[in-house]
Amino acid sequence: MSTSPKKVRVRHFAQAKEQGIKISGLTSYDFLTAGVFDEAGVDFLLVGDSAANVVFGYDTTVPVTVDELIPLARGVAKATTRALVVADLPFGSYEASPDEALHSAIRFMKEAGVHAVKLEGGVRSQEHIARIVEAGIPVMGHVGFTPQSEHGLGGHVVQGRGSGAEALMKDAVAVQDAGAFAVVIEMVPSTIARQVSEALTIPTIGIGAGPGTDGQILVWSDLAGLNTERVPRFVKQYASLRTVLYDAVSEWREDISEGVFPGPEHGFEES
Ligand code: KIV
Repeated sequence: MSTSPKKVRVRHFAQAKEQGIKISGLTSYDFLTAGVFDEAGVDFLLVGDSAANVVFGYDTTVPVTVDELIPLARGVAKATTRALVVADLPFGSYEASPDEALHSAIRFMKEAGVHAVKLEGGVRSQEHIARIVEAGIPVMGHVGFTPQSEHGLGGHVVQGRGSGAEALMKDAVAVQDAGAFAVVIEMVPSTIARQVSEALTIPTIGIGAGPGTDGQILVWSDLAGLNTERVPRFVKQYASLRTVLYDAVSEWREDISEGVFPGPEHGFEES
């Protein structure tokens, strides 16, 4: 979104699509990283339920709860002046009914101060999205591979191949018809993601969906190389943060054992 609004609003997503300007999104789970990403001009920050893996160390996104995500979302929202902050509705917080979805969305808006919510599912989540949008809360959809359904989908499997392409298109259109302002398309063949992006009037945000979507999102610790285990094929690592951090901490530890740290400049005088 290089036309750089002072504060990104959902209308800027629509404008970006109209003008062919790519949208950038990154996950964020705390005040400090959110401040960096915001300053770097990332258009939207997603307090993703990937916090389940990145922050809490769970094996999947299934266990993470609204109560766990709200404090993280609050830190991200507080640090952000330009980016649109989107909170993920975690598994178990919206599927039962549109009213449950609205209740969870309202909690994120009131208790964390985010600007929008995201939820997974196309046709199956259409009414849920519509209910939240009717209440004045912007919604980002999420179709293709939906990590909360990992067990139902049989693992991390590319979606939309073969006859799955039609179902994917239906899901994306359902999200759009429900009033979502954008939709994440995850782990889908590039050609199919491009077709969906061309068919929709709302912007598509790809992750593992090739270059034909209207924007891109990644999990920040994948991009920065803080995570070096099980890095998905669709990730490009722009730094080796794990090595940087490891080296810094090792040097500090050695300095302590050698009596080099703290030095006189790190102490206080009596007066
Ligand atoms: O939770 C998450 O990280 C996501 C992705 C789209 C990045 O939903």
